[in-house]
Amino acid sequence: MPLIVTLDGPAGAGKSSAARALAARLNVHYMDTGAMYRALAWAAMQRGYALENSALIAELAREVQIVFDTGRVLVDGTDVSAEIRSEKVTAATRYVADAPAVREVMKIIQRKIGSECDIVTEGRDQGTVVFPTATVKVFLTASAVHRAKRRHQEEVVRGSGLTFQEVLESQSVRDAADIARPVGALVAAVDAVVIETDSLTLEEVVECLVSLVEETRQARGKHDD
Ligand code: C5P
Repeated sequence: MPLIVTLDGPAGAGKSSAARALAARLNVHYMDTGAMYRALAWAAMQRGYALENSALIAELAREVQIVFDTGRVLVDGTDVSAEIRSEKVTAATRYVADAPAVREVMKIIQRKIGSECDIVTEGRDQGTVVFPTATVKVFLTASAVHRAKRRHQEEVVRGSGLTFQEVLESQSVRDAADIARPVGALVAAVDAVVIETDSLTLEEVVECLVSLVEETRQARGKHDD
């Protein structure tokens, strides 16, 4: 049975860095499901599709090829890694991610990837909806101010010019949308380990995750004996 580690949680909790580092440590595939929704929104905008037309976007999700290639995200061969992080695409992604028909297609694609290789997968609904029987489920969280600080730092590096206050405000809009989503809402799975990252460094979070995976593997090994 493939190893599946799910890392869910709100924006800015440090999921991406932790998931990427954990996948590297375990030498398994890293799946960024937020990037998949972003890439789909980008493809829809590129075609001039109405983002509210969920049937059309779900159809597009079936057709479009989203590929992760050594840290880059490709949509039908075009490198969209930087563009999908823009404010415009971030805002558009919400409509795409809110549609149950789109999520159903994404779930099938994500499960297929998870059935083919060992993965660390990151998102909002990975432990609750997509991989309810995952090997290890983690919910990474942090205070709103801490998360906004982290995201603001990323914006400074990107040179977007967004202020801390703007980042905090857009984060609270996204949090509200994530929580209110009819399908795949942001919530910790009942069997997830919740980690609060406010007072932890990235290295400490990764160490904690590696230990969790090792403990689970050992427990499973004993169970299988
Ligand atoms: O994690 P990230 O910020 O890249 O996610 C982009 C968007 O996709 C967010 O609006 C988030 O709510 C949504 N998303 C989702 N389900 C996932 C991953 C991300 O709805 N599994």
